[in-house]
Amino acid sequence: MKTIALMLCGTAAFAADPHLMPLPASYTPSGGRLAIDQGFRVALGGYREPRLEKAAARVIDRLARQTGMPLPGSLSKDATTATLVMETREGSAIVQRLGEDESYDLTITTRQARITAVNPLGILRGMETFLQLVDQDPKGWGVAAATIRDSPRFPWRGFSFDVSRHFMPVEVVKRTLDGMAAVKLNVLHWHLSDDQGFRVECEKYPKIQELASDGLYYTKDEIRDVIWYARDRGIRVVPEFDIPGHSTALLTAYPELGTLPGPYRIERKWGVFDPTLDPTKEEVYTFLDGFIHEMAELFPDQFFHVGGDEVNGEQWKTEHVQSFMKAHGLKDQGEFHRYFNSRVQPIVAKYAKRMMGWDEILAPGLPKDIVIQSWRGQKSLAEAARLGYSGILSAPYYLDLMHPAAEHYLADPLNEDTKSLTPEQRARILGGEAAMWSEYASPENVDSRDWPRLAAIAERFWSPQNVRDVESMYRRMETTSRWLDTLGLTHLSNYRVMLQRLAGDGPVEAVRTVADLVEPIKGYTREQTVNYTQQSPLNRLVDTARPESIPAREFNLAVGNGTMDHARLRQTLVAWRDNHIALDPMIRQREILSEVQPLSAALTEAATIGLAALDSIEGASPKPDASWIARSKASLAEAKKRKGDLVLMIVPGIESLVERAAAH
Ligand code: ACM
Repeated sequence: MKTIALMLCGTAAFAADPHLMPLPASYTPSGGRLAIDQGFRVALGGYREPRLEKAAARVIDRLARQTGMPLPGSLSKDATTATLVMETREGSAIVQRLGEDESYDLTITTRQARITAVNPLGILRGMETFLQLVDQDPKGWGVAAATIRDSPRFPWRGFSFDVSRHFMPVEVVKRTLDGMAAVKLNVLHWHLSDDQGFRVECEKYPKIQELASDGLYYTKDEIRDVIWYARDRGIRVVPEFDIPGHSTALLTAYPELGTLPGPYRIERKWGVFDPTLDPTKEEVYTFLDGFIHEMAELFPDQFFHVGGDEVNGEQWKTEHVQSFMKAHGLKDQGEFHRYFNSRVQPIVAKYAKRMMGWDEILAPGLPKDIVIQSWRGQKSLAEAARLGYSGILSAPYYLDLMHPAAEHYLADPLNEDTKSLTPEQRARILGGEAAMWSEYASPENVDSRDWPRLAAIAERFWSPQNVRDVESMYRRMETTSRWLDTLGLTHLSNYRVMLQRLAGDGPVEAVRTVADLVEPIKGYTREQTVNYTQQSPLNRLVDTARPESIPAREFNLAVGNGTMDHARLRQTLVAWRDNHIALDPMIRQREILSEVQPLSAALTEAATIGLAALDSIEGASPKPDASWIARSKASLAEAKKRKGDLVLMIVPGIESLVERAAAH
């Protein structure tokens, strides 16, 4: 069968572009439409379990919310007349395992939709595809008839969520799981401890929650609740407790585990810090045995993440460590860290878990069943695979670094560095994980840092490798973004709330005009402007603006390739030029808007130049002289420079107008 995925690589296939993300392995439209009306019924066929019954109830609930139609809440017993039949043969593992079958077939005819799968995991994936396809046409709600055969490209499709820098309440974790399920991600990697907080209750070592959490932690009951919630959605939960570095919070509670005596205080700033567990002390391994034992019982997943990143080695320069290293023939920090891991790994294994860690833990001698998570680059992943270790790729998927969706999307776990691997080595690359480090993320704005870009990454992990059409991705990501927000995520809805807070009683539209066209600075650069701490409120324009400005992207593209209608272009530029008139009085009154001032002024300046260029292109004014062109280019070069923590993104479009004015 010819797949749509392949056809989408050509530009002529837009009409066939189903609004799905991730795109399925194959999608064949068959003509006609299955209507969704108040007669909608769901039936389960074959194997049944409570998880499938709950899934069916969610289908009904979500459809009722989306369509506004009251739908009957109960399952139908009659698979011949039901609108949607979900049929599977057998249960999946009680504790979801890496590599279980997640494939499904979804056949939609004008009479019925039928999802068939080997086990409930495939049903859960197919159900999301079905729900995502529901749309409205002039005749009403329905789904286009089609045949879909689908299965994931990678078995490990994760999202790593830092809840230490800023604590994320259970409701945030749950809505994140809803979003993950919607785009077929299957691992929540829960980064539960770091310098800035230890977020889990421990009965054996209660000073963890008493002294290392500021009272912001998950009780064991809450953790179990989240794990069940995830299981219902076909998502594994892998906990991470970061050792031996990133452990200031733990050492605040148990300073005797530290390399230096302390005392330690929960860290309030961002960066890499000195406090490190002391690998020379036997009591450290006794503590870890007790802790890992309790956590291994709490978290049923087969994998257990011990972090291992960014050990700066400062505390290990101390005399007792240096003499220990000498006595044990450990010649540098790397070997000393390997020694630590070689003590931790048997503890993890004793509690029937496979150890996982960031790429720093990669060292010869550790058992081959550990898993390497590559964050420093793609090479270490290929290296791990060559050495016989399994791994997942995270380096190009750091959502907190505010890169555009396309950049994440085009980064492939099987990239150039893996070309020289044998098929057997390549199979060790299990997939990837996006990551959200929460230095600049709060419960209020974290969704807008994750979504919708996480959906594009989910497609990279799920869909065939040749699904790489960036324009198709952006189109589908927009639709998917709205769908995800209605599902309960808040990346669109909280944007409005945060803008209104910035505007106070003033006109929110004037703030929005600027907010829509700017982006936070990229990478690890935000620390350079303000001395941020854990207590800094994340309520400013930089916290509100989206990581990627879609309006700016579309403007730059349309103006750059000359497809933007001139009347609309003029209207847009006039609105941008004049926006400052409405905004300026607000900026003067409201301190929180002070960082908007230079961006708003730059927008006015750029739009003014754009209008002059447009006049000239349209013949309303003479061809600009060389000095105007030079001055304009210089102004635009200023306009696109970083201003505080933000960048105005529409300048390339204006620059192309100036080029055209100069050339005509
Ligand atoms: C990391 O970003 N330090 C894993």
